[in-house]
Amino acid sequence: MTQPTSDATAAPKSMDDIVALCRRRGFVFQSSEIYGGINGFWDYGPLGTELKRNLKNAWWTDMVHRELMGPFGAPVDIVGVDSTIIMNPKVWEASGHVSGFNDPMVDCRETKARYRADHLFVQRFELDGTTAGFATVGAGVDEARKAIDADRARRKVPHGYGGLANAIAKVRFGVTEAALDDLVPFDTLDATARAAVLAPEAKEVGTLTEPRMFNLMFETFVGALRSDDAKAYLRPETAQGIFANFENVVNSTRVRVPFGIAQIGKAFRNEVTPRNFTFRSREFEQMEIEFFVHPSQAPEWYAFWRDTRFAWWQSLGLAGGNLQLREHDADELAHYAKEGAGTSDIEYRFPFTAPGFGELEGVAHRSDYDLRQHAEHSGKRDKMKYFDQERNERYFPHVIEPSGGADRGTLALLCEAYTPDESRASKVYMAFHPRLAPVKAGVFPLVNKDGMPEIGERLYRQLRKRFVCEYDPKQSIGKRYARMDEAGTPYCFTIDGQSVEDQSVTVRHRDTQAQERIGVDHVERFLTERIGGA
Ligand code: GAP
Repeated sequence: MTQPTSDATAAPKSMDDIVALCRRRGFVFQSSEIYGGINGFWDYGPLGTELKRNLKNAWWTDMVHRELMGPFGAPVDIVGVDSTIIMNPKVWEASGHVSGFNDPMVDCRETKARYRADHLFVQRFELDGTTAGFATVGAGVDEARKAIDADRARRKVPHGYGGLANAIAKVRFGVTEAALDDLVPFDTLDATARAAVLAPEAKEVGTLTEPRMFNLMFETFVGALRSDDAKAYLRPETAQGIFANFENVVNSTRVRVPFGIAQIGKAFRNEVTPRNFTFRSREFEQMEIEFFVHPSQAPEWYAFWRDTRFAWWQSLGLAGGNLQLREHDADELAHYAKEGAGTSDIEYRFPFTAPGFGELEGVAHRSDYDLRQHAEHSGKRDKMKYFDQERNERYFPHVIEPSGGADRGTLALLCEAYTPDESRASKVYMAFHPRLAPVKAGVFPLVNKDGMPEIGERLYRQLRKRFVCEYDPKQSIGKRYARMDEAGTPYCFTIDGQSVEDQSVTVRHRDTQAQERIGVDHVERFLTERIGGA
């Protein structure tokens, strides 16, 4: 079941343009770029750091600090933890990650490229009674279809292929399109069919290996010895640090079921194919809540969190048809959610997934799977059950988990904000929600003399006590506005000749470029009314 908020009619934005702006203006850089980078790792520059921090702060403020009203008419109770990245490895045996956190991997013997088997799609066709096919990469059928189209547009028909491969290459570049079947996942083909597949960029057929499982956990060693006994893992999710502390939090605070524990922190996954900018990285940050409820109330809490989290992303400006809520089908549910109230994904239409969507956050009913597993593996068994005084009942609470990505969220904000506009000097502006904008205001003296810098500096010093602001006395005013447009700064205050006479300034609104005059004494109130305490 899919619920788009509205039809998306806008033309897709160019991911290349967005990545170029991110680099040019210091939102996101490749990690260790001076050494050629490292695949799947990204750094945030000054503007990106502020943007991501604003996103995480908004999440913490709205989920943990501010009052939310729950589905049964009482305020929602949530507390935070900050657990370690490296934990006792038994945590990951209990959670199932050591044995089961795997992706199927396929190698191409010819090109040496590596793929996730579930991200390889094969377009099959009949040729002289023989079935063959060519593989293409995509996180889903939509993306794979787009990749085929891009492939056709980009590459010329190669020469020198023999036999079947030659025929496949011709088909690949559009010769006998009518004979093509739709795309089928590579890992659903039998061994004979796989042997007749041409891998992406390969010249011979049958170069793809059989899929084999690859564990995504990053391993390390604790202490001086590199033995199996010293092996530990970088956490692949923040959730287990919450489950492992469930008893500690109950015993050390006044929380009572229903309540939640929140955590923001780094997670690490040795992804087979990190791709699409920061979308699938090997090091990323999660924003997770494990919300503990009585099993009988799980359906109501699940619906509450699904809708609350969807509305939250909308409130930050992802409000159009680019955001959708997708309830999982029964066959998609995770092992721990089989008997549950449901699982849904909040999805964003990224430029590289369009017309399809990519996951931004999952909301899952995890049942009592994790607490039971930890009770069992730690040997604590029923002692770890929660005693509910009101119900006079001891039980393992069920868990509703809204689990979002801070990096994917930041990427969605960047993509949504990116607005081409030929009428401006910058040709583009970033329409961030003012609450999330990295810089809230620019303060500019029109010229760097005649009393204007003095007023500008005074205003800047006053504003920066409460807001992230930039003071810039140099260059033409057009260039200064252009810089702020690319940074997504919602308001610019300019001090001109009239300001010296009547203590007024102009306010330029980023999205409309409209200007108005207000008293310099009113600037702080102006920002407070529009941005609040942020
Ligand atoms: N505790 C549940 C959990 O970790 P998940 O769907 O695997 O669930 C939750 O991850 C969120 O973490 C995703 O919705 C996504 O936003 C983010 N995420 C997962 N893998 C990621 C990756 N390789 N790169 C960036 N973000 C990722």
